[in-house]
Amino acid sequence: MKENKFEFQYEIYDDISELDEKDAWLLTEARTVTEQAYAPYSRFHVGAVAILENGEVVAGTNQENASYPVGICAERVLLGSVGTLHPNMAVKSMAISYNSEDVRSDHPISPCGMCRQALLEYETRTKKPIRLILSGQEGKVYIIKTARFLLPFAFTSDELI
Ligand code: THU
Repeated sequence: MKENKFEFQYEIYDDISELDEKDAWLLTEARTVTEQAYAPYSRFHVGAVAILENGEVVAGTNQENASYPVGICAERVLLGSVGTLHPNMAVKSMAISYNSEDVRSDHPISPCGMCRQALLEYETRTKKPIRLILSGQEGKVYIIKTARFLLPFAFTSDELI
């Protein structure tokens, strides 16, 4: 019998002032774009903004539905736009933030399981890592080098071809 361990490193910053200019700008955009979320049911407004390899910036926000499972997370709204507007263009970094009508937005959140799978698919498609910048409207910022770290033992297209 053998045992394996999965672990990964990520960066923790006390707040946005410790980031370099580009990352701080991207995170500020993600914090602001939460205003465009349509989240009347959860009252939890998520914003994601990505910078692509060609310098284009694409945003996404969560879009909910009265039939709850129909709602889409900000990250997958964003990836759908990237795949449509700039197919196969690598995503260099994606900042994700949130605002809530009920709880404080003072710590990072990380993408849900379905979004992790979608992020990994886009990394696989472009063969480039997506760097994640996670933070609330204030407080600590986490930077993770690749979305792959968030989904160990993932199911990918490698199994199908
Ligand atoms: N949500 C996102 O948009 N991204 C995440 O990473 C976590 C959750 C959305 C889904 C739903 O509209 C609301 O936040 C509450 O779960």
